[in-house]
Formats: sequence, structure tokens, C-alpha cells
Amino acid sequence: MVKITFIDATGVARTADGEVGSTVMETAINNAVPGIEAECGGACACSTCHVYIDPAWQEKVGGPSPMEEDMLDFAYGIQPNSRLSCQIKVTKDLDGLVVRTPERQA
Ligand code: FES
Repeated sequence: MVKITFIDATGVARTADGEVGSTVMETAINNAVPGIEAECGGACACSTCHVYIDPAWQEKVGGPSPMEEDMLDFAYGIQPNSRLSCQIKVTKDLDGLVVRTPERQA
């Protein structure tokens, strides 16, 4: 299992176990982590799974694909470290990952 910590807009941190091969979004949903809606179910078609990657993890996580970047335009409050969590695969390398959820989803 891969530990992923979600910090909400008020600073509350929740750590969840992610399964290798699933996504960061699925980890949040499966563990009832609030702040991620994932209306499209992970199809990169809604932008309601928006998260901010902790700066220390940005390099390891990498940037969005062109398709994800287009969809991020619809997200609320995007920043340079914004990603759609359904597009981030959980790998062993991401053990300890920290992401922040925005004040609200689009
Ligand atoms: Fe819809 Fe990620 S769940 S874009």
C-alpha cells in the first residue's frame, strides 16, 4: 500500500492507503476523503478531482498531459502545481505523496 496524504483547504490532513495501479482520485473516493468529487468517474472529463501537488512531490508526479491541461482550464483556482487526481497513477514511488484539495471543485 502507498500512503497518500490529502490536506484540505482548512489544513486538515487525512492519510489514506492507495493501491498500486489505482489512481490518487480513486484512493480519495475509496477512503471517503472529502474535497474530491470526481463526477466523471476518472475519464478526465469533469475537473472535479482537482488537487494541488505538494511542491516537494511535483517533480516525481510530473505534469499534466495536453488533454488534462485542457480540462484543468475548467477547474476552480488552478495553480502551477494543479493536477487532476484521476490522471495520477499510484506507484510505489509515490509512497508518502502529499496533495492539497482546493477550497471547492469547479
Ligand atoms: Fe473527472 Fe478526474 S474525475 S476529470
